[in-house]
Amino acid sequence: MHVLAIETSCDETSAAVLEGSGSLTLDGGKAGGRGETAAAVPDGEARVLSNIVLSQDEIHAPFGGVVPELASRQHLKSIDPVVRESLTAAGVPLAGIDVFAVTQGPGLIGSLLVGVSFAKGLAYVRGKPLVGVDHVQAHIQAAFLEHPETPYPALALIVSGGHTSLFLLKEPLLYERLGRTRDDAAGEALDKVAKFLELGYPGGPVIQRLAEPGDPAAFEFALPRMSDRSLDFSFSGLKTAALRIIRENRIAKDHPRLPDFLASFESAVVRALIENLLRAAERTDPRALVLCGGVARNARLRKRFEEAARSGGLRWAIPSGKLCTDNAAMVGALALARIRAGVPIPPALELDAYPRSLFGG
Ligand code: KG4
Ligand code: ZN
Repeated sequence: MHVLAIETSCDETSAAVLEGSGSLTLDGGKAGGRGETAAAVPDGEARVLSNIVLSQDEIHAPFGGVVPELASRQHLKSIDPVVRESLTAAGVPLAGIDVFAVTQGPGLIGSLLVGVSFAKGLAYVRGKPLVGVDHVQAHIQAAFLEHPETPYPALALIVSGGHTSLFLLKEPLLYERLGRTRDDAAGEALDKVAKFLELGYPGGPVIQRLAEPGDPAAFEFALPRMSDRSLDFSFSGLKTAALRIIRENRIAKDHPRLPDFLASFESAVVRALIENLLRAAERTDPRALVLCGGVARNARLRKRFEEAARSGGLRWAIPSGKLCTDNAAMVGALALARIRAGVPIPPALELDAYPRSLFGG
């Protein structure tokens, strides 16, 4: 079975073609034709044939953050060539696609609608089903795409520019949200501090690069503490503390202590994430830890996460860099997993976009 997946929830236009196994269950219990089972793809696994990601970073960089209207207009221009390129790169014609998949939400509504409308058009014209998937769930699926042997229950930490949450997956596709951010997402805090220092956008990768030679113990950051037993995150306090240190020490782009400051801030963000992850692991006793979302590209976070898993004797899964940030392969992977699980697919033209998470994010 070939799936063509589309992702346009924020500022990346992406399309991917995946090959997987499974049979389609259309809504109403009527079974669709059994898709061809590709011998090359083991049952229950998926193979990425192409994963084209066109970033809009250059368009949003002058503003230090994503400008929603510019994002949707750019998706409109890019979606057709990106989808075409994904088919060409996969060596699969449009007629060879058995099912389409698209991110329904959460995300920027104008951006989501471009992908959803385009996918609906393709599904309608080709007379094929369209699977709508959740962006946060898709980020988590990226880890299982590359590490299908990851055991359950799995504790997943999703860290991106829009989301910072903990989920317990007792079994495949069963998500229990344990905690979420009460204010900024971790990536958002990194992006905002980088913007304040005029370091460029997106802030996460720039901070990682500039922080490398710095001393993470040079500046002290007090980590947020929740008054209740909640596993929620909070990053606005760390961001405010960062801005105070910047002012008090007159840190600027060319300041000699910039690497020390950035290393300390990045390290504080990582500690806040890992501490909460470990608290959640203590309570839920998972067999594996999963790290995903754009900030999962961060080298310091990946290292601390691996150390935490190893010292707890747990398996762990972190997607490779390209599958951490927004991409359509993770959308296709989730669609295939849902098809395999027999989740009914409603008629394509009924699909709608949603800006906020339906199950928390
Ligand atoms: O998952 P993603 O592409 O989009 C959302 O769903 O939000 O994540 C984007 C976020 C941005 O905040 C960006 O600064 C952050 O991921 N990011 C990083 C790194 N690469 C991307 N943060 C820290 N270190 C990185 N290497
Ligand atoms: Zn994302």
